[in-house]
Amino acid sequence: MTTILAIETSCDETAAAVIENGDTIRSNVVATQMESHARFGGVVPEIASRHHVEVVTAVVEEALEKANVTYQDLTAVAVTEGPGLVGALLVGIHAAKAIAFAHGLPLIGVHHIAGHIYANQLVAKLQFPLLALVVSGGHTELIYMEKDGHFQVIGQTRDDAVGEAYDKVARALALPYPGGPNVEQLADTAEAALDLPRSWLEKDSYDFSFSGLKSAVLNRLNNDKQRGIVTDRAALAKGFQESVVDVLVAKTVRAQAQFNVKQVVLAGGVAANKGLRKALTEAFANKDVTLLVPPLSLCTDNAAMIGACAHSMWLRGISGNMAMNARPGLPLSSF
Ligand code: KG4
Ligand code: ZN
Repeated sequence: MTTILAIETSCDETAAAVIENGDTIRSNVVATQMESHARFGGVVPEIASRHHVEVVTAVVEEALEKANVTYQDLTAVAVTEGPGLVGALLVGIHAAKAIAFAHGLPLIGVHHIAGHIYANQLVAKLQFPLLALVVSGGHTELIYMEKDGHFQVIGQTRDDAVGEAYDKVARALALPYPGGPNVEQLADTAEAALDLPRSWLEKDSYDFSFSGLKSAVLNRLNNDKQRGIVTDRAALAKGFQESVVDVLVAKTVRAQAQFNVKQVVLAGGVAANKGLRKALTEAFANKDVTLLVPPLSLCTDNAAMIGACAHSMWLRGISGNMAMNARPGLPLSSF
């Protein structure tokens, strides 16, 4: 049996979790800083680091307490090594190093996006080959995994990440941070959607582009303003959401067919979007493939996903050392 303590501080959530055998959540604690950043309309890196420093010890202790384990029960300590905000990452890494050093535990550095994918292992056993649709604030990728620990990016965004586009559109619509859930909420109130472009790119491409769509939203708002027209903001939000979901789902369906995978898994903060979850579920309902969609708490940043991924690395004998450093631009590589 393995019992892994995992820590995640790459952005604006201070999170710690205890994961047993890579698939069982003993505890999953998330302290969000959302309110501190909301008045600035986005995450302020310096504020994020300070908050992490203030609460990381308490969050780790709470995770151990809730899991009813002590440091002596742990097999290893895992932490997000990157990508993310350097100052924010450093807080988690130093906390993890201190625990590993004090208790003689192995230290496992986890890639944040690999973590998002492995969140699905807490839902059901991963079956390979699989296809992951990763949609977060910094990433939009279709990733083919031939086997455990192997990542092949088959498509990615050429400009904005999808979550970033949601956040920018939210700002243009005068919605508060975090943008994604607020755009979705507004879109849900609309009766009809405004027709906005879909960015398909080249016929065979699995890449994405969201900056044109974002510009279409901004142009519509500006044009209406200049002509003294009151924009139907809800219909605009719905049009944006429909365009995003159409493209994400169509490319995922096409990739699933081409790569003939056993599972399709959804990952990242935007996976919390109900419209996307529903459209994917419908698209794969009659196909010979299993779709895994994590519960909302495992879509947005958390440490349980880091623990789940660390377990897989641990089985392969991978662990880091005290020289581990924050790697804000860490590429996703196989382990
Ligand atoms: O994975 P995540 O929590 O942090 C990163 O690793 O980036 O993703 C955050 C992103 C933000 O851009 C946020 O607006 C978006 O996920 N998001 C959503 C929803 N909930 C969060 N986007 C659309 N609909 C949602 N319901
Ligand atoms: Zn994330």
